[in-house]
Amino acid sequence: MCDPLRLNRWFRRGLYGVLTLMFVTGMIWLVADWKKSAPDGEMWQSMAAWLLMAHGGGAMITLLLLGAILPVHAYRSWRGRRNRTSGAIMVTMNAVLITTSFGLYYMGSEAIRPWLSDIHIGAGICLPIFLVAHILLGRRTAPV
Ligand code: HEM
Ligand code: HEM
Repeated sequence: MCDPLRLNRWFRRGLYGVLTLMFVTGMIWLVADWKKSAPDGEMWQSMAAWLLMAHGGGAMITLLLLGAILPVHAYRSWRGRRNRTSGAIMVTMNAVLITTSFGLYYMGSEAIRPWLSDIHIGAGICLPIFLVAHILLGRRTAPV
């Protein structure tokens, strides 16, 4: 039987694709930022700027897909009482990523920015692990 809570194949692929882009650009940016005072620092600095641009562009698509996920997937799964705990964790982690990214983009304060950066990066590194756990746990609740 077709499970109505499963995401459409193209939507699912798009979501995995854009989250991969977010993760990869974020991780390579960390390397570029670390290397920016090396002798070839100028190259790393310009790479970091490009990576952040791709990351910011990806953020817009991510927001679009997350906005769609709430009514078509999260709300319906919640009402069906399936996978609620890990679903709530997914919503919270994405909310943390979005709120901290807003702060990273708009807050100039040197006192707060490093905190936002650390929280954003920590949540970003954990996201793939939690997403995989969420999917595996969710599949276990599928009707037979
Ligand atoms: C930002 C929040 C969320 C994201 C990004 C997300 C993402 C995903 C993805 C990619 C899958 C695997 C694709 C699929 O099976 O179609 C999945 C499966 C699942 N999720 Fe979520 N989810 C979120 C929130 C929630 C919430 C709040 C709930 C429950 C209240 C939930 C319940 C489930 C269930 C039951 C499955 C298994 C569906 C199945 O294979 O039968 N999700 N989720
Ligand atoms: C998937 C895992 C993710 C990782 C590993 C990650 C990593 C990073 C890193 C390393 C930075 C630079 C931090 C700094 O400037 O101090 C950053 C900035 C940012 N991230 Fe993420 N991120 C992830 C997901 C997301 C998501 C889901 C969004 C929004 C939907 C997002 C939006 C942003 C924005 C808007 C910025 C600031 C860009 C700028 O300053 O131009 N990120 N991220």
